[in-house]
Amino acid sequence: MADTSGSETLASGAAIAATWSKGKAQELEFWRMVATNTPPCPPDYHAEMLARCDPAAEIHPSFIASIVTAPLEEAVLLDIAAGPVSSLGWCHQGRRLNVVPIDALAEDYGAILAEAGLAPPVPTRPGHAEDLASLFPPASIDFAHMRNALDHCYDPMKVIRGALGILKPGASFRIHTIVNEAVIEGYEGFHQWNIERRGDRLVIWRPGTEIDVGAEVPEAALTLHGGEHWLFIELVRKA
Ligand SMILES: C[S@@+](CC[C@H](N)C(=O)[O-])C[C@H]1O[C@@H](n2cnc3c(N)ncnc32)[C@H](O)[C@@H]1O
Repeated sequence: MADTSGSETLASGAAIAATWSKGKAQELEFWRMVATNTPPCPPDYHAEMLARCDPAAEIHPSFIASIVTAPLEEAVLLDIAAGPVSSLGWCHQGRRLNVVPIDALAEDYGAILAEAGLAPPVPTRPGHAEDLASLFPPASIDFAHMRNALDHCYDPMKVIRGALGILKPGASFRIHTIVNEAVIEGYEGFHQWNIERRGDRLVIWRPGTEIDVGAEVPEAALTLHGGEHWLFIELVRKA
């Protein structure tokens, strides 16, 4: 499954993928609790899930400036590892956007949402983030978004390369991630990778492996914001 770049060996890639697979049950349990509002679900988690299902939910205005390769109403906005319902929003100033959410666990999420009686405006499609190059044509996407998920993937560098390959030249990949979450979560389940900012460098690491993302993808312009607890990353595919 994992054939990550850098010094990662195929053997350790397979070990990471095996541990990743063990994380599925925990992730599904979490989202079932949130969707069905089952204790101990915090009330605001369920409220956020309901808000995500609202077809009038607005995209965060800060994303709009990054959508430059097509008129907004024609742009294809990809939400990678979106969860059961995309958090991106479905409209801008009341106009409907073309949002495509994908997630590795989409089929299971479909069953959970049906159980909860919830229906997102666009159902999340099944798809591993590592397979973007085979899921979408090259240079076909106007904006890619990934929130709290890059470090949940078994091969984050493959995700980044794949995303850049399907973005149109000039298009943006916006990644929001918690800093060094594998350390925080003790390398359990989906939490196999750490992501952190070192000055202007973006580093993805786990014991024995360190990837300088900017050096790996010279085809992208990298910008970083934040980096204490949340890190906001923008990769723009160079024209
Ligand atoms: C913490 S949740 C975040 C979901 C959503 N982005 C949000 O912010 O609410 C992480 C998501 O990543 C998905 N995921 C983990 N590894 C993945 C992979 N390799 N490919 C696609 N989705 C993956 C999980 O199924 C889960 O829905």
